[in-house]
Amino acid sequence: MFSPSPLPGLKNISPYVGGDSDISGFDKVIKLASNEGAFGPSQKTIKAINNSIKDSHRYPDGDSQELREAISQKYSLELERLVCGCGSDELINLLCRTYAAPGDEIVHTAHGFAMYPIYAKTVGAIPISAPENNITACVPNIVNAITERTKLVFIANPNNPTGTYLQASQLISLHQQIPSNVLLIIDSAYAEYVQEKDYSPGIELAKQNNNVIMLRTFSKIYGMGGIRLGWGYFPKEVADILNRVRSPFNVSFVAQAAGLAAIQDDEFVKSSQNHNHRFLKWTQDKLRSLGLVVPDSFGNFVLVRFPNSKNEKDNDKSAEKADAHLKSCGIIVRRLAGYGLPDALRVTIGTEEEMKSVINSITEFLN
Ligand SMILES: Cc1ncc(COP(=O)(O)O)c(C=O)c1O
Repeated sequence: MFSPSPLPGLKNISPYVGGDSDISGFDKVIKLASNEGAFGPSQKTIKAINNSIKDSHRYPDGDSQELREAISQKYSLELERLVCGCGSDELINLLCRTYAAPGDEIVHTAHGFAMYPIYAKTVGAIPISAPENNITACVPNIVNAITERTKLVFIANPNNPTGTYLQASQLISLHQQIPSNVLLIIDSAYAEYVQEKDYSPGIELAKQNNNVIMLRTFSKIYGMGGIRLGWGYFPKEVADILNRVRSPFNVSFVAQAAGLAAIQDDEFVKSSQNHNHRFLKWTQDKLRSLGLVVPDSFGNFVLVRFPNSKNEKDNDKSAEKADAHLKSCGIIVRRLAGYGLPDALRVTIGTEEEMKSVINSITEFLN
């Protein structure tokens, strides 16, 4: 008896595990597990979504033309080099499919976004993890990880889940040391949250080089994770290839309408940035004052390190137990054991009320 068998290696992939959305016994939970914007979509975006529903029997524009024009205008980018996707996730997938073959290598940082190695494996490529320095991407280690078989280098900046970032000058130095036939993908999903002067989302590098890509998403500051919309700025030849291999209607009618409204809503972005700046600092300060180790984060989340559960005396203060306690208070955060950080939890910056509940719950847990 023969049965259909998938391509070799696919059964070894551990599927991505997203943040939970509910806790049994709770009608309403505080969900801070997926770095979704604290306020959901803006009022203007909601209005655009509602208006678009009545026409959603129509196929969308396969080129997301109007949306790309708006992005092109906002960031002074060449229209033909912009490609939109069903989340930036789709673009990560397409890049792996298009540029890596079985046996090729795809480099990512040790605690880089989980989908990089997953998509590498889906095409039979080998994910290569470059060690970090103090949970921060390390340029020499990334360069050392590159071999003749390397096709793609992914760097999330700031990185999820660590929250750390490489300065613009470090990205330039990284690019200078990467062979010209290797694509450097700067995934700037959290760019809008960063306020540091030495940060760049990679626009200039992507504009000036034919082996650099910048990815962006509407899932974070724009609060549109459920809509599924991302975009990238690609070298012309790469954009051309992606447009050949992507599905023809990869961005839905509703997503295009929502994105168009969202990208023009600077006021909403500004107030979300201000909120995040204030409560990121507030949350970090409170957690540190409780004696926890909290590296500086530059996204809309913090990494919180709890006493190592392998140490008998600290066993009852482990990240695992903290997570259980938070859940018992109706709060969902993200465990990071799957990222190789078993002592850490990642907490998204939510509303003021939500952050106060988190701090109260962790204070209670530690006492
Ligand atoms: C660094 C990074 N890149 C990409 C993504 C995927 O985002 P999207 O919702 O646009 O697919 C995420 C989502 O959490 C992320 O953290």
